[in-house]
Amino acid sequence: MIEQYHKSALSNEVVESLNVASGRIFCDATLGDGGHTLAMLRHLPVEGTVVGIDRDAQAIERAQQRLASFGDRFMAIQGNFSDLEKLLKENSIFGVDGVVCDLGVSMLQISDPSRGFMFSARGPLNMRMQADDGLTAADIINEFSEKELADIIWKYGEERQSRRIARAIVRERSKRRINSTEELAEIVRSVVGGRFVIKTLARVFQAIRIYINDELASLERFLPQALNMLNPGGRLAIIEYHSLESRIVKDFIYREVHPCTCPKDFPMCVCGKEPRIRVVHKLIKPSEQELTLNPSSRSARLRVVEKLL
Ligand SMILES: C[S@@+](CC[C@H](N)C(=O)[O-])C[C@H]1O[C@@H](n2cnc3c(N)ncnc32)[C@H](O)[C@@H]1O
Repeated sequence: MIEQYHKSALSNEVVESLNVASGRIFCDATLGDGGHTLAMLRHLPVEGTVVGIDRDAQAIERAQQRLASFGDRFMAIQGNFSDLEKLLKENSIFGVDGVVCDLGVSMLQISDPSRGFMFSARGPLNMRMQADDGLTAADIINEFSEKELADIIWKYGEERQSRRIARAIVRERSKRRINSTEELAEIVRSVVGGRFVIKTLARVFQAIRIYINDELASLERFLPQALNMLNPGGRLAIIEYHSLESRIVKDFIYREVHPCTCPKDFPMCVCGKEPRIRVVHKLIKPSEQELTLNPSSRSARLRVVEKLL
């Protein structure tokens, strides 16, 4: 019996802002441990359903166990949300009343040292959300050029010491292959000592994880598809955790709210492009109470938009 599930961030806010009680079918694009799906199923009318998507087979298995009592009101699909339209249509779902997307990694992934996501636990340098899919962290750490490594750490971790860290990685790997999270963490520590080291370690590991899992490009592909799949009046709720995700989501919302491509000095719009969405909530942060109960929700930020009729 599994007892330790991922603590969902902003769960009540997701249920409320998606108007779950008045919908019929919802999509949880990042099923994880099924926490948001569970909250939605509890609020849905009895005939309401949730379809959950995750690229991680272990997550799908755990969520299926956890949500088994809902029978066919819950359906799980393994896949990447960047293929959202295809995944839903293959399962005969052509429109949904709401979509939630809770970005990042789950407790399941982080707390299992064999997945290699954490700098604080010894494990293989893996970091793939979907096992057997693409390069591992060890592949890039041992095989990418110094410049490529520095660029990844800078672009996806926004780490100022990226060049020095990449140089240290290349120096160390010339002596032996770097295989474990602990070895990589040691190299980072040798470059950035003192009180900043934990933040730097978090940024370096985040950068590699984002690169390995192609997280930002997946998000960019997902957003317009989520909008396409929403029924008119349906809502999209996105929980983001860092500035790189935030930039993509904000740019997408801005483009959809201001689609007009007419030159600025035109007295009126002639391109005819109409907004497809309206902003329902610009930014919801966890309450003080949630932060006390679930400190790991501290960087969660929820944005909600509604598809216009
Ligand atoms: C923060 S967790 C979700 C937790 C979940 N909301 C809950 O309450 O239990 C994020 C999940 O999204 C999944 N994920 C991340 N990127 C994905 C993608 N591109 N396609 C499908 N699933 C993805 C991860 O595997 C992880 O299980």
